[in-house]
Amino acid sequence: MPNTVLVGAQWGDEGKGKITDLIASDYDYVVRFQGGNNAGHTVIHGDKKLALHLMPSGVMYENAVPVIGNGVVVDPGVLIKEMAVLEAEGISCKNLRISCDAHVIMPYHKDLDGADEKRLGEHKIGTTKRGIGPCYQDKAARKGIRIQDLMDEKIFRLKVETALAQKNPILKNIYGLHTYTVEEICEEYLPYANILRPYMAETAQMLNQAIRDGKTVLFEGAQGTLLDIDHGTYPYVTSSSCCAGGACTGTGVGPKKIDRVLGIQKAYVTRVGGGPFPTELTYAEDGGEGQDAVDGETLCQVGHEYGVTTGRKRRCGWFDAVIARYAAEVNGLTDVALTKLDVLSAFDTIKVCVAYECDGQTYDYFPMQQSVLFHAKPVYEELPGWKDVDITGCRTFEELPENARAYVEHLEKLAGVPISIIAVGPDRDQTIFRGWDR
Ligand code: GDP
Ligand code: IMO
Ligand code: MG
Repeated sequence: MPNTVLVGAQWGDEGKGKITDLIASDYDYVVRFQGGNNAGHTVIHGDKKLALHLMPSGVMYENAVPVIGNGVVVDPGVLIKEMAVLEAEGISCKNLRISCDAHVIMPYHKDLDGADEKRLGEHKIGTTKRGIGPCYQDKAARKGIRIQDLMDEKIFRLKVETALAQKNPILKNIYGLHTYTVEEICEEYLPYANILRPYMAETAQMLNQAIRDGKTVLFEGAQGTLLDIDHGTYPYVTSSSCCAGGACTGTGVGPKKIDRVLGIQKAYVTRVGGGPFPTELTYAEDGGEGQDAVDGETLCQVGHEYGVTTGRKRRCGWFDAVIARYAAEVNGLTDVALTKLDVLSAFDTIKVCVAYECDGQTYDYFPMQQSVLFHAKPVYEELPGWKDVDITGCRTFEELPENARAYVEHLEKLAGVPISIIAVGPDRDQTIFRGWDR
């Protein structure tokens, strides 16, 4: 298998966990390259549903080495708990490798994340409050604490002391929150260091050597293209590079070593948190009306669209081909995996947004100015559905009803990227491979 980057092509929760888990056994290494435990990736293990936040979804296979790359921010307490849950399920984490350069989420990062959201009020981003943004802020400001610092008690104490000299006044004077002592942070974090020490590695060197030895790597993205700090709907984004380029900076593997970029797209679109969403079908409780609100509720209920990390009800909308084309470009997608096609069996007809209209202008490319996106009216095409036909048992493209095949082919044409994997249910085997050579 060629080295592959797997990225979310929408606003996250596209089904990256399922697809990573599905193809991971074809690779020697599965590497997370950005984000932290803001991610919630669902994998089905036997008859159990497991939610992974930090652990690469490839952990399910013994032959694939799970790696947490330098671009990830690690909450050590969360990681240790996640490892314990997996071990209790009989899934070994012994092969895990954590980059010595990954940054550590500290208690004050979590406090500041929540407090800043409160301060923003109705303009809040709707973060997961896991401390992701404040941790990346410290990284960019060159004040962060890395995994390698955590492993050295002397350095760790010194760095915590320096950090608290700045954080405590902010916590106390700006947000009216409690402050920390070096001792209480060391008491919590130094035992984490002892547990995680055997897993720390120079992962960039390890991965490059592996590639030289003919081994293959799957780079598992978290979040999605439109949550990318540069290419997403800023400021309603996360604080990392979720697009394919992030796989290089977040692991230390150069772009020429990457052969394939697989974008994960849901057959419709969802979003959690604030920010523009042109095809959103607003729920009745949020002021939505008529058929749109009914369709939005149907997508949510049939698709079980509730956040894996926060439990929030996800915002739902029709497939947006403007976004699909944009994601194809900024990631350089070579293939698409289309997920949750089965959910659309609930509809008589299915809408697809092919362009936006705003102030008398039509946009078939992602608009330059965010204000357009806020006010954009979707231009829809309406396609015939395959209502009430259960497609979860289909295993070849030919087995799908004619209208489902036409829907897939239409999306493929609109974005200009081949759809080589189609998911028709959450289980591993509820999948159609179509030109994805395994
Ligand atoms: P991720 O963050 O991209 O990994 O996605 P999440 O795990 O947050 O959300 C995707 C949800 O859809 C999970 O509950 C999956 O089990 C489920 N899922 C994935 N693919 C399919 C599919 O093809 N059909 C259905 N019905 N559910 C799916
Ligand atoms: P996976 O990997 C969906 C969203 C949050 C918020 C914004 C910023 O499961 O697809 P953050 O806590 O990162 O600072 O929040 O990003 N967000 C996600 N939405 N799926 C995710 O991860 C997300 N991770 C963050 O809801 O709008
Ligand atoms: Mg998710």
